[in-house]
Amino acid sequence: MKIKVLGSSAGGGFPQWNCNCRNCDGVRRGTIKATRRTQSSIAVSANGEDWLLVNASPDLLAQIAANPELQPARRARDSGIAAVLVIDAQIDHVTGLLMLRERDTPLPLYATNAVWQDLCSGFPVAPILSHYCGVEHRRIALDGAPLAIDALGGVQIDALPLSSKAPPYSPHRNAPERGDNIGLVITNRQTGKRVFYAPGLGAIEAHVLAAMREADLLLVDGTLWTADEMIRLELSKKTAADMGHLQQSGPGGMIEVLDSLGAHNARKVLIHINNTNPILVEDGPERRILTEHGIEVAYDGMTFEI
Ligand code: MLT
Ligand code: MN
Ligand code: ZN
Repeated sequence: MKIKVLGSSAGGGFPQWNCNCRNCDGVRRGTIKATRRTQSSIAVSANGEDWLLVNASPDLLAQIAANPELQPARRARDSGIAAVLVIDAQIDHVTGLLMLRERDTPLPLYATNAVWQDLCSGFPVAPILSHYCGVEHRRIALDGAPLAIDALGGVQIDALPLSSKAPPYSPHRNAPERGDNIGLVITNRQTGKRVFYAPGLGAIEAHVLAAMREADLLLVDGTLWTADEMIRLELSKKTAADMGHLQQSGPGGMIEVLDSLGAHNARKVLIHINNTNPILVEDGPERRILTEHGIEVAYDGMTFEI
């Protein structure tokens, strides 16, 4: 089973178009050691030819161009993207669905009912796409039964409900529903190896910690280094928790959580990195701390064979 990181940044990307923070300005001018990143998406394949796109980023077209394996060219019109799964209805995870409109068959879309409702109302990509290829909703039920995805033979996907929030434009923004946000456990049935994927992980609930303990590869929330990072830079009034994210540093932060998992040789990788996060500076002190804890930072194009 292959996992490819198509986009390792949080919403906004790195650099963000209108941002002049130290990181964005520095990467634009080449004055810091850092690498550009597109917005949040991974792809999973069992055979290297058919892919499940997990989150459809606003940068999807650039990501397809950067990853030729997503374009096997078997017919006049063709794509390696066999289906899409979205973990929430956030802009950085669903906007790319619009870019798939030229398909000649309806797009299979795996989503919870809560997310599907948002995609039919607050961010109506499903009704819009009904005028093009159409979308075939495949429900993620959260009833404990694993998902079998046609295009991923030998791969099992288990969805975990996460306590977080629906996006600002959701009709139920202030009345959170089970299924607004999910994490995934992706298992290669042949090797028994597991990937845990949760780019938005506001709280480490018991069932989440249990799944993290069993994973061989963790791709987890790398959004912010400190809880008040955006506030201190005067770029936002929101804390990490307000945005459904867990900061890396300090007591109860992601580094501490990852350290607590014990030494079972799991690869620990931060993903969905906000452009303000100092870990983007490859020779900076925060990156050195991560390295000391055996934690890696995802980059676009990073590939895992599990
Ligand atoms: C988030 O996960 O908080 C998002 O990246 C925010 C956004 O897309 O604006
Ligand atoms: Mn996001
Ligand atoms: Zn910035």
